Amino acid sequence: AKIQEHQFVIQATPVKRLCSTHNTITVNGQFPGPTLEVNNGDTLVVKVTNKARYNVTIHWHGIRQMRTGWADGPEFVTQCPIRPGESYTYRFTIEGQEGTLWWHAHSSWLRATVYGALIIYPREGEAYPFPKPKRQTPILLGEWWDANPIDVLRQATRTGAAPNISDAYTINGQPGDLYKCSTQGTTIVPIDSGETNLLRVINAALNQPLFFTVANHKLKVVGADASYLKPFTTSVIMLGPGQTTDVLIQGDQPPSRYYMAARAYQSAQNAPFDNTTTTAILNYKSAPCPAKGVSIKPLMPSLPAYNDTNTVTTFSNSFRSPRKVEVPAEIDDDLFFTIGLGLNNCPPNFSPNQCQGPNGTRFTASMNNVSFVLPNNVSILQAHHLGVQGVFTTDFPTQPPLKFDYTGNVSRSLWQPVPGTKVTKLKFGSRVQIVLQDTSIVTPENHPIHLHGYDFYIVAEGFGNFDPKKDTSKFNLVDPPMRNTVAVPVNGWAVIRFVADNPGAWIMHCHLDVHIGWGLATVLLVDNGVGLLQSIEAPPEDLPLC
Ligand code: C2O
Repeated sequence: AKIQEHQFVIQATPVKRLCSTHNTITVNGQFPGPTLEVNNGDTLVVKVTNKARYNVTIHWHGIRQMRTGWADGPEFVTQCPIRPGESYTYRFTIEGQEGTLWWHAHSSWLRATVYGALIIYPREGEAYPFPKPKRQTPILLGEWWDANPIDVLRQATRTGAAPNISDAYTINGQPGDLYKCSTQGTTIVPIDSGETNLLRVINAALNQPLFFTVANHKLKVVGADASYLKPFTTSVIMLGPGQTTDVLIQGDQPPSRYYMAARAYQSAQNAPFDNTTTTAILNYKSAPCPAKGVSIKPLMPSLPAYNDTNTVTTFSNSFRSPRKVEVPAEIDDDLFFTIGLGLNNCPPNFSPNQCQGPNGTRFTASMNNVSFVLPNNVSILQAHHLGVQGVFTTDFPTQPPLKFDYTGNVSRSLWQPVPGTKVTKLKFGSRVQIVLQDTSIVTPENHPIHLHGYDFYIVAEGFGNFDPKKDTSKFNLVDPPMRNTVAVPVNGWAVIRFVADNPGAWIMHCHLDVHIGWGLATVLLVDNGVGLLQSIEAPPEDLPLC
Protein backbone atom coordinates (compact mmCIF):
# COMPACT_ATOMS: atom_id res chain seq x y z
CA ALA A 1 0.00 0.00 0.00
CA LYS A 2 1.14 3.52 -0.79
CA ILE A 3 0.89 6.88 0.89
CA GLN A 4 -0.41 9.46 -1.57
CA GLU A 5 0.00 13.15 -0.93
CA HIS A 6 -2.08 15.88 -2.57
CA GLN A 7 -2.49 19.63 -2.26
CA PHE A 8 -5.97 21.16 -2.58
CA VAL A 9 -6.04 24.94 -2.88
CA ILE A 10 -9.55 26.34 -2.49
CA GLN A 11 -9.71 29.42 -4.67
CA ALA A 12 -12.04 31.56 -6.75
CA THR A 13 -11.58 30.95 -10.49
CA PRO A 14 -13.52 32.44 -13.42
CA VAL A 15 -15.71 29.73 -14.97
CA LYS A 16 -17.87 30.37 -18.04
CA ARG A 17 -21.11 28.43 -18.40
CA LEU A 18 -24.45 29.24 -20.08
CA CYS A 19 -23.13 32.41 -21.74
CA SER A 20 -21.76 34.08 -18.60
CA THR A 21 -18.70 33.92 -16.40
CA HIS A 22 -18.81 33.55 -12.63
CA ASN A 23 -16.04 33.76 -10.11
CA THR A 24 -16.42 30.17 -8.96
CA ILE A 25 -14.99 28.47 -5.89
CA THR A 26 -12.82 25.58 -7.11
CA VAL A 27 -10.03 23.27 -6.04
CA ASN A 28 -6.73 24.11 -7.77
CA GLY A 29 -8.66 26.17 -10.34
CA GLN A 30 -10.33 23.03 -11.70
CA PHE A 31 -14.06 22.52 -12.11
CA PRO A 32 -14.98 19.79 -11.34
CA GLY A 33 -12.03 19.28 -9.01
CA PRO A 34 -9.20 16.77 -9.38
CA THR A 35 -9.95 13.04 -9.55
CA LEU A 36 -8.18 11.11 -6.80
CA GLU A 37 -7.18 7.56 -7.77
CA VAL A 38 -6.07 5.15 -5.06
CA ASN A 39 -5.84 1.44 -4.40
CA ASN A 40 -7.69 -0.23 -1.59
CA GLY A 41 -5.28 -0.11 1.38
CA ASP A 42 -3.63 3.19 0.42
CA THR A 43 -3.37 6.19 2.72
CA LEU A 44 -4.43 9.60 1.42
CA VAL A 45 -2.87 12.77 2.80
CA VAL A 46 -4.57 15.86 1.43
CA LYS A 47 -3.45 19.31 2.53
CA VAL A 48 -6.33 21.74 2.02
CA THR A 49 -5.39 25.41 1.91
CA ASN A 50 -8.21 27.92 1.90
CA LYS A 51 -7.52 30.89 -0.38
CA ALA A 52 -11.19 31.72 -0.85
CA ARG A 53 -13.27 34.19 1.15
CA TYR A 54 -15.56 31.56 2.66
CA ASN A 55 -14.99 29.06 5.45
CA VAL A 56 -14.61 25.58 4.02
CA THR A 57 -14.19 21.91 4.94
CA ILE A 58 -13.79 18.85 2.72
CA HIS A 59 -15.67 15.57 3.24
CA TRP A 60 -14.57 12.25 1.74
CA HIS A 61 -18.00 10.94 0.95
CA GLY A 62 -18.35 7.25 1.79
CA ILE A 63 -14.86 6.74 3.25
CA ARG A 64 -15.37 4.87 6.48
CA GLN A 65 -12.67 6.78 8.43
CA MET A 66 -12.04 3.91 10.84
CA ARG A 67 -10.38 5.50 13.91
CA THR A 68 -9.82 8.75 11.93
CA GLY A 69 -13.08 10.60 12.60
CA TRP A 70 -11.16 13.91 12.71
CA ALA A 71 -10.66 13.62 8.94
CA ASP A 72 -14.34 13.16 8.04
CA GLY A 73 -14.93 16.83 7.35
CA PRO A 74 -18.51 17.99 8.07
CA GLU A 75 -18.33 21.48 9.49
CA PHE A 76 -19.06 21.69 13.24
CA VAL A 77 -19.53 17.91 13.47
CA THR A 78 -15.94 16.63 13.33
CA GLN A 79 -14.04 19.91 12.93
CA CYS A 80 -14.40 23.66 12.87
CA PRO A 81 -14.15 25.18 9.40
CA ILE A 82 -10.85 26.00 7.71
CA ARG A 83 -10.92 29.78 7.69
CA PRO A 84 -9.66 31.91 4.81
CA GLY A 85 -5.86 31.84 4.84
CA GLU A 86 -5.65 28.63 6.89
CA SER A 87 -4.86 24.98 6.08
CA TYR A 88 -5.78 21.55 7.38
CA THR A 89 -4.34 18.19 6.35
CA TYR A 90 -6.76 15.29 6.06
CA ARG A 91 -5.10 11.90 6.57
CA PHE A 92 -6.92 8.59 6.30
CA THR A 93 -6.56 5.02 5.04
CA ILE A 94 -8.88 3.17 2.70
CA GLU A 95 -9.73 -0.11 4.36
CA GLY A 96 -11.64 -2.70 2.40
CA GLN A 97 -13.56 -0.37 0.12
CA GLU A 98 -13.42 -0.62 -3.70
CA GLY A 99 -15.28 1.27 -6.38
CA THR A 100 -16.42 4.85 -6.75
CA LEU A 101 -16.70 7.49 -4.06
CA TRP A 102 -16.21 11.24 -4.23
CA TRP A 103 -15.15 14.22 -2.18
CA HIS A 104 -16.94 17.52 -1.69
CA ALA A 105 -17.04 20.66 0.44
CA HIS A 106 -19.19 20.20 3.55
CA SER A 107 -19.88 23.79 4.42
CA SER A 108 -22.80 25.95 3.30
CA TRP A 109 -23.50 25.34 -0.42
CA LEU A 110 -19.85 25.27 -1.48
CA ARG A 111 -20.15 21.73 -2.73
CA ALA A 112 -22.12 23.09 -5.71
CA THR A 113 -18.72 23.61 -7.33
CA VAL A 114 -16.19 22.09 -4.91
CA TYR A 115 -16.31 18.37 -5.68
CA GLY A 116 -14.48 15.59 -7.51
CA ALA A 117 -14.27 11.82 -7.97
CA LEU A 118 -12.44 9.48 -5.58
CA ILE A 119 -11.74 6.21 -7.34
CA ILE A 120 -10.63 3.17 -5.38
CA TYR A 121 -9.05 0.39 -7.44
CA PRO A 122 -8.62 -3.12 -6.04
CA ARG A 123 -5.51 -3.74 -3.95
CA GLU A 124 -2.41 -3.91 -6.09
CA GLY A 125 -2.24 -7.32 -7.77
CA GLU A 126 -5.92 -8.05 -7.09
CA ALA A 127 -8.62 -8.23 -9.73
CA TYR A 128 -12.09 -6.79 -10.19
CA PRO A 129 -14.94 -9.28 -9.73
CA PHE A 130 -15.68 -8.70 -13.45
CA PRO A 131 -13.48 -8.71 -16.58
CA LYS A 132 -11.12 -5.74 -16.46
CA PRO A 133 -12.60 -2.87 -18.48
CA LYS A 134 -10.41 -1.46 -21.23
CA ARG A 135 -11.26 2.10 -20.20
CA GLN A 136 -12.79 3.86 -17.19
CA THR A 137 -14.51 7.24 -17.11
CA PRO A 138 -15.83 9.17 -14.12
CA ILE A 139 -19.22 10.72 -14.90
CA LEU A 140 -20.00 13.47 -12.40
CA LEU A 141 -23.58 14.70 -12.58
CA GLY A 142 -24.01 18.18 -11.17
CA GLU A 143 -26.05 21.35 -11.09
CA TRP A 144 -25.07 24.83 -12.20
CA TRP A 145 -26.53 28.14 -11.04
CA ASP A 146 -26.19 31.18 -13.23
CA ALA A 147 -25.42 32.98 -9.95
CA ASN A 148 -23.22 32.51 -6.91
CA PRO A 149 -24.75 29.47 -5.16
CA ILE A 150 -23.78 30.86 -1.75
CA ASP A 151 -25.86 33.97 -2.47
CA VAL A 152 -28.78 31.77 -3.57
CA LEU A 153 -28.66 29.98 -0.21
CA ARG A 154 -28.24 33.20 1.79
CA GLN A 155 -31.24 34.77 0.09
CA ALA A 156 -33.36 31.72 0.96
CA THR A 157 -32.16 31.71 4.57
CA ARG A 158 -33.01 35.40 4.92
CA THR A 159 -36.51 35.03 3.52
CA GLY A 160 -37.45 31.56 4.78
CA ALA A 161 -38.53 30.69 1.23
CA ALA A 162 -37.29 27.81 -0.92
CA PRO A 163 -34.06 28.68 -2.77
CA ASN A 164 -34.02 29.19 -6.52
CA ILE A 165 -33.59 25.99 -8.48
CA SER A 166 -30.47 25.57 -10.61
CA ASP A 167 -30.22 26.71 -14.23
CA ALA A 168 -28.66 23.59 -15.73
CA TYR A 169 -27.64 20.04 -14.95
CA THR A 170 -24.10 19.12 -15.89
CA ILE A 171 -21.95 16.11 -16.82
CA ASN A 172 -18.34 16.56 -15.73
CA GLY A 173 -19.07 20.24 -15.19
CA GLN A 174 -20.58 20.83 -18.65
CA PRO A 175 -24.28 21.34 -19.37
CA GLY A 176 -23.92 19.86 -22.87
CA ASP A 177 -25.09 21.08 -26.23
CA LEU A 178 -28.83 21.18 -25.54
CA TYR A 179 -28.24 24.29 -23.38
CA LYS A 180 -27.43 27.77 -24.65
CA CYS A 181 -23.75 28.63 -25.27
CA SER A 182 -22.75 25.08 -24.26
CA THR A 183 -21.81 23.22 -27.45
CA GLN A 184 -18.12 24.04 -27.15
CA GLY A 185 -17.30 22.33 -23.89
CA THR A 186 -19.64 19.32 -24.18
CA THR A 187 -18.06 16.30 -22.50
CA ILE A 188 -16.87 13.60 -24.91
CA VAL A 189 -16.54 10.04 -23.62
CA PRO A 190 -14.48 7.79 -25.89
CA ILE A 191 -15.16 4.13 -26.57
CA ASP A 192 -14.11 1.75 -29.33
CA SER A 193 -15.81 -1.16 -30.99
CA GLY A 194 -15.49 -4.25 -28.89
CA GLU A 195 -14.11 -2.54 -25.81
CA THR A 196 -15.72 -2.19 -22.41
CA ASN A 197 -15.90 1.17 -20.67
CA LEU A 198 -16.58 1.34 -16.93
CA LEU A 199 -18.61 4.47 -16.23
CA ARG A 200 -18.27 5.59 -12.64
CA VAL A 201 -21.43 7.66 -12.26
CA ILE A 202 -21.66 10.05 -9.32
CA ASN A 203 -24.63 12.24 -8.47
CA ALA A 204 -22.92 15.39 -7.20
CA ALA A 205 -26.01 17.55 -7.81
CA LEU A 206 -26.93 19.71 -4.86
CA ASN A 207 -30.66 19.09 -4.70
CA GLN A 208 -31.81 16.84 -7.52
CA PRO A 209 -32.18 13.05 -7.92
CA LEU A 210 -31.33 12.22 -11.53
CA PHE A 211 -31.99 9.55 -14.13
CA PHE A 212 -29.01 8.62 -16.31
CA THR A 213 -28.93 6.64 -19.55
CA VAL A 214 -26.91 6.09 -22.75
CA ALA A 215 -28.57 5.89 -26.17
CA ASN A 216 -28.66 2.34 -27.62
CA HIS A 217 -26.36 0.90 -24.94
CA LYS A 218 -27.28 -1.40 -22.09
CA LEU A 219 -25.92 -0.52 -18.68
CA LYS A 220 -24.54 -3.40 -16.63
CA VAL A 221 -24.59 -2.32 -12.98
CA VAL A 222 -21.67 -3.82 -11.04
CA GLY A 223 -21.32 -1.61 -7.97
CA ALA A 224 -22.65 1.32 -5.97
CA ASP A 225 -21.19 3.50 -3.21
CA ALA A 226 -17.88 1.56 -3.36
CA SER A 227 -19.48 -1.82 -2.76
CA TYR A 228 -19.78 -4.48 -5.45
CA LEU A 229 -23.20 -5.72 -6.55
CA LYS A 230 -24.51 -8.85 -8.18
CA PRO A 231 -24.42 -7.55 -11.78
CA PHE A 232 -27.70 -6.74 -13.49
CA THR A 233 -28.59 -5.05 -16.74
CA THR A 234 -30.83 -2.04 -17.19
CA SER A 235 -31.35 0.76 -19.67
CA VAL A 236 -31.58 3.54 -17.07
CA ILE A 237 -30.28 4.20 -13.56
CA MET A 238 -31.39 6.68 -10.91
CA LEU A 239 -29.09 8.27 -8.37
CA GLY A 240 -30.01 10.47 -5.46
CA PRO A 241 -27.45 13.15 -4.63
CA GLY A 242 -24.51 11.49 -2.87
CA GLN A 243 -24.99 8.10 -4.52
CA THR A 244 -22.59 6.52 -7.01
CA THR A 245 -23.21 3.67 -9.45
CA ASP A 246 -20.64 1.77 -11.51
CA VAL A 247 -21.89 0.54 -14.88
CA LEU A 248 -20.18 -1.30 -17.71
CA ILE A 249 -21.04 -0.38 -21.27
CA GLN A 250 -19.98 -2.42 -24.23
CA GLY A 251 -18.84 -0.93 -27.53
CA ASP A 252 -21.25 -3.16 -29.45
CA GLN A 253 -23.14 -0.61 -31.54
CA PRO A 254 -22.43 0.75 -35.01
CA PRO A 255 -19.46 3.15 -34.64
CA SER A 256 -21.06 6.57 -34.29
CA ARG A 257 -21.91 9.23 -31.72
CA TYR A 258 -24.49 8.59 -28.99
CA TYR A 259 -25.77 10.90 -26.30
CA MET A 260 -25.54 9.96 -22.67
CA ALA A 261 -28.05 12.02 -20.77
CA ALA A 262 -29.35 12.88 -17.30
CA ARG A 263 -32.61 14.49 -16.29
CA ALA A 264 -34.59 15.03 -13.09
CA TYR A 265 -36.38 12.37 -11.16
CA GLN A 266 -38.60 14.84 -9.41
CA SER A 267 -38.02 14.02 -5.82
CA ALA A 268 -40.64 16.37 -4.39
CA GLN A 269 -44.22 16.37 -5.51
CA ASN A 270 -45.68 19.78 -6.34
CA ALA A 271 -42.32 21.53 -6.07
CA PRO A 272 -40.72 23.50 -8.89
CA PHE A 273 -38.00 21.65 -10.77
CA ASP A 274 -36.01 21.91 -13.96
CA ASN A 275 -37.08 19.47 -16.68
CA THR A 276 -34.10 20.10 -18.98
CA THR A 277 -31.57 17.44 -20.01
CA THR A 278 -27.79 17.45 -19.69
CA THR A 279 -25.83 15.48 -22.26
CA ALA A 280 -22.37 14.16 -23.00
CA ILE A 281 -21.34 12.36 -26.16
CA LEU A 282 -20.25 8.73 -26.31
CA ASN A 283 -17.91 8.80 -29.26
CA TYR A 284 -16.69 5.68 -31.09
CA LYS A 285 -13.11 6.32 -32.06
CA SER A 286 -13.71 4.47 -35.32
CA ALA A 287 -16.80 6.52 -36.18
CA PRO A 288 -16.62 7.89 -39.70
CA CYS A 289 -15.65 11.57 -39.75
CA PRO A 290 -18.52 13.81 -40.76
CA ALA A 291 -18.06 15.38 -44.20
CA LYS A 292 -16.93 19.00 -44.13
CA GLY A 293 -19.70 21.31 -42.98
CA VAL A 294 -22.05 18.45 -42.09
CA SER A 295 -22.86 17.98 -38.45
CA ILE A 296 -23.98 14.55 -37.34
CA LYS A 297 -26.42 14.78 -34.45
CA PRO A 298 -25.77 12.06 -31.89
CA LEU A 299 -28.59 9.62 -31.23
CA MET A 300 -30.76 10.73 -28.28
CA PRO A 301 -31.84 8.17 -25.65
CA SER A 302 -35.29 8.19 -24.13
CA LEU A 303 -35.43 9.03 -20.45
CA PRO A 304 -38.22 8.14 -18.00
CA ALA A 305 -40.79 10.81 -17.20
CA TYR A 306 -39.94 13.04 -14.24
CA ASN A 307 -42.52 11.28 -12.06
CA ASP A 308 -41.72 7.69 -13.07
CA THR A 309 -41.40 6.17 -9.60
CA ASN A 310 -42.09 2.67 -11.00
CA THR A 311 -38.79 2.74 -12.89
CA VAL A 312 -37.00 3.84 -9.73
CA THR A 313 -38.58 1.02 -7.71
CA THR A 314 -37.73 -1.63 -10.31
CA PHE A 315 -34.16 -0.35 -10.38
CA SER A 316 -33.60 -0.27 -6.62
CA ASN A 317 -35.28 -3.68 -6.18
CA SER A 318 -32.60 -5.15 -8.46
CA PHE A 319 -29.82 -4.40 -5.97
CA ARG A 320 -28.19 -7.46 -4.34
CA SER A 321 -24.82 -8.09 -2.79
CA PRO A 322 -22.76 -10.48 -4.92
CA ARG A 323 -22.98 -13.19 -2.26
CA LYS A 324 -24.46 -14.02 1.12
CA VAL A 325 -23.44 -11.33 3.62
CA GLU A 326 -23.46 -11.01 7.39
CA VAL A 327 -26.40 -8.83 8.27
CA PRO A 328 -27.00 -8.36 12.01
CA ALA A 329 -29.90 -10.72 12.75
CA GLU A 330 -30.52 -9.57 16.34
CA ILE A 331 -30.91 -5.85 17.02
CA ASP A 332 -29.70 -3.92 20.10
CA ASP A 333 -30.76 -0.43 19.04
CA ASP A 334 -34.09 -0.35 17.23
CA LEU A 335 -34.62 3.18 15.94
CA PHE A 336 -37.44 4.76 13.94
CA PHE A 337 -36.74 8.16 12.36
CA THR A 338 -39.28 10.15 10.38
CA ILE A 339 -37.80 12.34 7.67
CA GLY A 340 -39.55 15.22 6.03
CA LEU A 341 -40.24 18.88 5.59
CA GLY A 342 -42.28 21.30 7.63
CA LEU A 343 -43.39 24.89 7.66
CA ASN A 344 -42.76 26.84 10.83
CA ASN A 345 -45.07 29.66 11.83
CA CYS A 346 -43.35 33.01 11.62
CA PRO A 347 -41.56 33.64 14.96
CA PRO A 348 -42.83 36.79 16.73
CA ASN A 349 -39.51 38.61 16.42
CA PHE A 350 -39.37 38.04 12.63
CA SER A 351 -40.58 40.48 10.00
CA PRO A 352 -42.91 39.38 7.18
CA ASN A 353 -40.07 39.53 4.64
CA GLN A 354 -38.22 36.92 6.70
CA CYS A 355 -41.25 34.61 6.40
CA GLN A 356 -41.81 34.28 2.68
CA GLY A 357 -42.65 30.56 2.73
CA PRO A 358 -46.24 29.49 1.93
CA ASN A 359 -48.80 31.58 3.91
CA GLY A 360 -46.18 33.60 5.74
CA THR A 361 -44.23 30.62 7.10
CA ARG A 362 -40.59 29.58 6.99
CA PHE A 363 -39.47 26.29 5.44
CA THR A 364 -38.02 23.78 7.83
CA ALA A 365 -37.26 20.07 7.91
CA SER A 366 -36.76 17.49 10.62
CA MET A 367 -36.07 13.96 11.74
CA ASN A 368 -38.50 12.87 14.46
CA ASN A 369 -39.66 16.48 14.55
CA VAL A 370 -36.21 17.72 15.64
CA SER A 371 -34.77 20.30 13.27
CA PHE A 372 -31.02 19.87 13.63
CA VAL A 373 -28.96 22.92 14.51
CA LEU A 374 -25.17 22.71 14.12
CA PRO A 375 -23.09 24.12 16.97
CA ASN A 376 -21.06 27.18 15.99
CA ASN A 377 -18.18 27.40 18.43
CA VAL A 378 -16.87 23.84 18.67
CA SER A 379 -17.45 20.62 16.75
CA ILE A 380 -19.54 17.84 18.26
CA LEU A 381 -16.59 15.42 18.16
CA GLN A 382 -14.31 17.92 19.94
CA ALA A 383 -16.97 18.74 22.51
CA HIS A 384 -17.40 15.03 23.20
CA HIS A 385 -13.67 14.41 23.35
CA LEU A 386 -12.95 17.36 25.66
CA GLY A 387 -16.13 16.98 27.71
CA VAL A 388 -17.38 20.47 26.82
CA GLN A 389 -20.88 20.75 28.26
CA GLY A 390 -23.87 22.50 26.72
CA VAL A 391 -22.96 21.89 23.07
CA PHE A 392 -25.40 19.06 22.42
CA THR A 393 -27.82 16.83 24.26
CA THR A 394 -28.14 13.06 23.90
CA ASP A 395 -31.92 12.90 23.96
CA PHE A 396 -32.66 12.56 20.25
CA PRO A 397 -35.93 10.58 20.21
CA THR A 398 -35.51 6.92 19.22
CA GLN A 399 -39.15 6.88 18.04
CA PRO A 400 -41.35 9.65 16.58
CA PRO A 401 -42.83 11.72 19.41
CA LEU A 402 -46.24 11.44 17.76
CA LYS A 403 -47.55 8.60 15.62
CA PHE A 404 -49.87 9.40 12.73
CA ASP A 405 -50.49 8.42 9.13
CA TYR A 406 -47.10 9.70 7.88
CA THR A 407 -47.99 9.43 4.20
CA GLY A 408 -51.57 10.65 4.44
CA ASN A 409 -53.01 14.08 3.85
CA VAL A 410 -51.57 15.51 7.04
CA SER A 411 -51.86 19.09 8.21
CA ARG A 412 -48.56 20.83 8.74
CA SER A 413 -49.82 22.18 12.05
CA LEU A 414 -49.60 18.64 13.42
CA TRP A 415 -45.83 18.78 13.21
CA GLN A 416 -44.01 22.04 13.96
CA PRO A 417 -40.34 21.02 14.03
CA VAL A 418 -38.46 22.08 17.13
CA PRO A 419 -34.84 23.22 16.68
CA GLY A 420 -32.21 21.38 18.71
CA THR A 421 -28.71 19.90 18.70
CA LYS A 422 -29.76 16.43 19.77
CA VAL A 423 -27.65 13.34 19.13
CA THR A 424 -28.23 9.60 19.52
CA LYS A 425 -25.65 7.79 21.63
CA LEU A 426 -24.87 4.27 20.46
CA LYS A 427 -22.76 1.74 22.28
CA PHE A 428 -19.69 0.61 20.39
CA GLY A 429 -20.49 -2.73 18.78
CA SER A 430 -24.24 -2.26 19.00
CA ARG A 431 -26.29 -3.88 16.25
CA VAL A 432 -28.44 -1.08 14.91
CA GLN A 433 -31.61 -0.97 12.84
CA ILE A 434 -33.04 2.33 11.63
CA VAL A 435 -36.43 2.62 9.95
CA LEU A 436 -36.43 5.78 7.82
CA GLN A 437 -39.98 6.93 7.19
CA ASP A 438 -40.85 9.69 4.74
CA THR A 439 -43.59 12.07 5.85
CA SER A 440 -45.95 13.86 3.51
CA ILE A 441 -46.05 17.11 5.44
CA VAL A 442 -45.62 19.90 2.85
CA THR A 443 -44.68 17.28 0.23
CA PRO A 444 -43.72 13.61 0.13
CA GLU A 445 -40.28 13.28 -1.35
CA ASN A 446 -37.51 10.83 -2.21
CA HIS A 447 -34.87 11.77 0.37
CA PRO A 448 -31.32 10.47 -0.14
CA ILE A 449 -30.28 9.77 3.45
CA HIS A 450 -26.51 9.56 3.92
CA LEU A 451 -24.71 8.25 7.01
CA HIS A 452 -21.09 9.25 7.58
CA GLY A 453 -18.55 6.74 8.91
CA TYR A 454 -20.54 3.67 7.92
CA ASP A 455 -21.79 1.48 5.14
CA PHE A 456 -25.12 -0.13 5.93
CA TYR A 457 -27.29 -2.86 4.51
CA ILE A 458 -30.61 -1.80 3.01
CA VAL A 459 -32.75 -4.73 4.13
CA ALA A 460 -36.09 -3.48 2.78
CA GLU A 461 -37.89 -0.58 1.15
CA GLY A 462 -41.59 0.03 0.65
CA PHE A 463 -44.42 2.51 0.26
CA GLY A 464 -46.86 3.87 2.81
CA ASN A 465 -46.32 3.59 6.55
CA PHE A 466 -43.77 1.04 7.76
CA ASP A 467 -45.64 -1.71 9.56
CA PRO A 468 -43.39 -3.97 11.68
CA LYS A 469 -46.02 -6.73 11.69
CA LYS A 470 -46.30 -6.99 7.90
CA ASP A 471 -43.06 -5.57 6.63
CA THR A 472 -40.52 -7.50 8.70
CA SER A 473 -41.28 -10.57 6.60
CA LYS A 474 -39.97 -8.72 3.53
CA PHE A 475 -36.51 -8.15 5.00
CA ASN A 476 -33.64 -9.47 2.93
CA LEU A 477 -31.12 -10.71 5.50
CA VAL A 478 -29.30 -12.87 2.96
CA ASP A 479 -27.81 -10.67 0.23
CA PRO A 480 -29.01 -7.06 0.69
CA PRO A 481 -26.95 -4.30 -0.95
CA MET A 482 -24.48 -2.26 1.07
CA ARG A 483 -24.49 1.51 0.61
CA ASN A 484 -23.73 4.77 2.36
CA THR A 485 -26.73 6.66 0.99
CA VAL A 486 -30.26 5.27 0.68
CA ALA A 487 -32.83 6.93 -1.56
CA VAL A 488 -35.86 6.51 0.71
CA PRO A 489 -38.89 5.98 -1.56
CA VAL A 490 -41.23 8.92 -1.98
CA ASN A 491 -44.21 8.36 0.33
CA GLY A 492 -42.47 5.31 1.74
CA TRP A 493 -39.75 3.91 3.96
CA ALA A 494 -36.44 2.08 4.03
CA VAL A 495 -34.87 -0.08 6.73
CA ILE A 496 -31.11 -0.14 7.23
CA ARG A 497 -28.90 -2.27 9.50
CA PHE A 498 -25.27 -1.99 10.55
CA VAL A 499 -22.94 -2.70 13.45
CA ALA A 500 -21.73 0.43 15.27
CA ASP A 501 -18.07 -0.57 15.02
CA ASN A 502 -16.60 2.87 14.29
CA PRO A 503 -16.33 5.25 17.28
CA GLY A 504 -16.89 8.92 16.55
CA ALA A 505 -19.52 11.55 15.81
CA TRP A 506 -21.26 10.73 12.54
CA ILE A 507 -23.76 12.99 10.89
CA MET A 508 -26.71 11.39 9.14
CA HIS A 509 -28.51 13.75 6.81
CA CYS A 510 -30.55 14.23 3.71
CA HIS A 511 -28.12 14.80 0.81
CA LEU A 512 -30.47 17.33 -0.80
CA ASP A 513 -28.48 20.27 0.55
CA VAL A 514 -31.50 22.51 0.75
CA HIS A 515 -32.79 20.12 3.43
CA ILE A 516 -29.60 20.19 5.54
CA GLY A 517 -29.97 23.90 6.10
CA TRP A 518 -33.58 23.32 7.12
CA GLY A 519 -32.48 20.74 9.71
CA LEU A 520 -32.96 17.31 8.10
CA ALA A 521 -30.04 15.78 9.99
CA THR A 522 -28.96 14.18 13.22
CA VAL A 523 -25.73 12.83 14.67
CA LEU A 524 -24.95 9.31 15.85
CA LEU A 525 -22.37 9.41 18.62
CA VAL A 526 -20.63 6.04 18.87
CA ASP A 527 -18.56 5.53 21.98
CA ASN A 528 -16.92 2.49 23.55
CA GLY A 529 -17.22 4.02 27.00
CA VAL A 530 -13.48 3.93 27.83
CA GLY A 531 -12.57 7.37 26.47
CA LEU A 532 -12.48 8.34 22.86
CA LEU A 533 -8.70 8.23 22.46
CA GLN A 534 -8.59 4.61 23.59
CA SER A 535 -10.40 3.83 20.37
CA ILE A 536 -9.60 6.55 17.85
CA GLU A 537 -6.51 8.49 16.92
CA ALA A 538 -5.67 11.77 18.65
CA PRO A 539 -6.85 14.95 16.94
CA PRO A 540 -4.24 16.19 14.44
CA GLU A 541 -2.25 19.19 15.63
CA ASP A 542 -3.55 21.40 12.84
CA LEU A 543 -7.23 20.55 13.48
CA PRO A 544 -9.01 23.89 12.97
CA LEU A 545 -10.46 25.35 16.14
CA CYS A 546 -13.27 27.84 16.19
CU1 C2O B 1 -21.71 13.67 0.83
CU2 C2O B 1 -22.48 14.74 4.66
O1 C2O B 1 -22.12 14.24 2.73
